[in-house]
Amino acid sequence: MTAFRDLRHYLEHLTEALGEDEVRRVEGAHWDLEIGGITELLAEREGPALLFDDIPGYPSGFRVFTNFMGTPARSAVALGLPADTPKLDIVRAWKDISRDLRMIPPVEVADGPVLENVIEGEAVDVTMFPAPRWHDGDGGRYIGTSCMVVTRDPDTGWVNAGTYRVSVHGKDRLSVWFLGNRHARAIAHKYWERGRNCPIAVVVGQDPILSTAAAMSAPEGVSEYDLAGGLRGQGVEVLPAPGTDLPVPARAEIVLVGEMPPPEEESVLEGPFGEWTGYYTHSGQEPVVRVRRILHRDDPIILGAPPMLPTIPAGDQAVPLYSATVTWDHLEQAGVQNVQGVWAYARQLMMVVSIKQTGAGDAMHALLAAASRKRTGGMERYLVAVDEDIDITDINHVLWALFTRVDPAESIHVLRSPTTAIDPRLSPAKREAGDLSMGIVLVDACKPFAWKDQYPRANRVDEGYRAELRARWKGVLPL
Ligand SMILES: Cc1cc2nc3c(=O)[nH]c(=O)nc-3n(C[C@H](O)[C@H](O)[C@H](O)COP(=O)(O)O)c2cc1C
Repeated sequence: MTAFRDLRHYLEHLTEALGEDEVRRVEGAHWDLEIGGITELLAEREGPALLFDDIPGYPSGFRVFTNFMGTPARSAVALGLPADTPKLDIVRAWKDISRDLRMIPPVEVADGPVLENVIEGEAVDVTMFPAPRWHDGDGGRYIGTSCMVVTRDPDTGWVNAGTYRVSVHGKDRLSVWFLGNRHARAIAHKYWERGRNCPIAVVVGQDPILSTAAAMSAPEGVSEYDLAGGLRGQGVEVLPAPGTDLPVPARAEIVLVGEMPPPEEESVLEGPFGEWTGYYTHSGQEPVVRVRRILHRDDPIILGAPPMLPTIPAGDQAVPLYSATVTWDHLEQAGVQNVQGVWAYARQLMMVVSIKQTGAGDAMHALLAAASRKRTGGMERYLVAVDEDIDITDINHVLWALFTRVDPAESIHVLRSPTTAIDPRLSPAKREAGDLSMGIVLVDACKPFAWKDQYPRANRVDEGYRAELRARWKGVLPL
């Protein structure tokens, strides 16, 4: 994969690889709802990446960058693949790279652009950045959406970096929201149990591989920095955030450094925040970060991935691609025969597996294996198996299989598996009781193996003849 030096390098590369129109500069949009609204309206149409500048009330050059991976082409570029890589090949390439991944630790450097401005003590004021309020129901301004929260395990020295939403609560206060099973929460607890505050650094604006790695669930003890290094083929340049031993990217846009006291000592009402499911769900008392230092580059860029309806090809295409990659890899490791590909819809709410059936149990084997890959708190809801003639990257094709190859009386199976606190379908009573149980559906949308050769023939122009027609009728047919 390409080792982008930093977010700016990626930005430049995007326009080189995909053209000037790929990144649209928008001047004068307000941080309060306008940036979020424009981002969403263009994301709905798979529009360009957006670089907002001249945000009212802020110095020119203090920018917000959104929709940075919002299309398969941009995701391919972000992952260092040619822009025209077919969608399923992006997932295949990622799976193959991940399979033999060699972790590469970060490289410590003495200086870097993130130290261009170091603000300490009384001068600390995180409201100096144009953090957007993304949706009108949001309970605050979220500076951290595609951010990277860095903590260090006090026992082992393991450095964790995770993406958790971060909102602004005054000049030197932030809040962080991490779900129950997140590594940063476990690390913070270790400090709190010893009566200490947890040192923390919130990195806002890093290259897309680092952003992607931070949202990946590396196992406990494995640093997302090493993972990002492995994916890039080169160690990430880091320096210790002043006053701490937390490594932060030397070329990050903004780093907010501080400490998180135990919630019994200080907490704030966090949220509500419109989440990726498309709903406002969780809001509650959450830990705060007391910000001690601000590091930032000249003309800093906030990297934003505001949550939108999961059906919108959103600013962080990496999530569905990653979910598909992990599931595909898992199916192969579980010995599922002839997997042709995996694709995720609505982030990961529906996972579709394409298989070439060789026996009667293949579809069910694939579905059960996909279900077993679901993490505690994952939100895969519909797992669907289809035959290899279905283009799983085309929702209409998948729907055709669902509507015409499924006997609802025979082909649908319901299991139970825990969901997460942001699941809108959890009833108030279950939420109150901490009961996160939820159904998941396995749908066998393959032609029944026993009589698949007698399945009615499809009246669809076949692939070979399509190619022939395209070649012969260039002026009439799209490529
Ligand atoms: C854009 C984006 C925002 C996210 N926001 C949150 C969040 O607010 N809270 C949370 O617990 N997980 C959030 N996640 C998921 C975590 O980043 C992900 O599960 C990651 O693996 C957590 O890291 P950890 O395993 O080191 O805890 C988000 C992911 C993305 C891509």
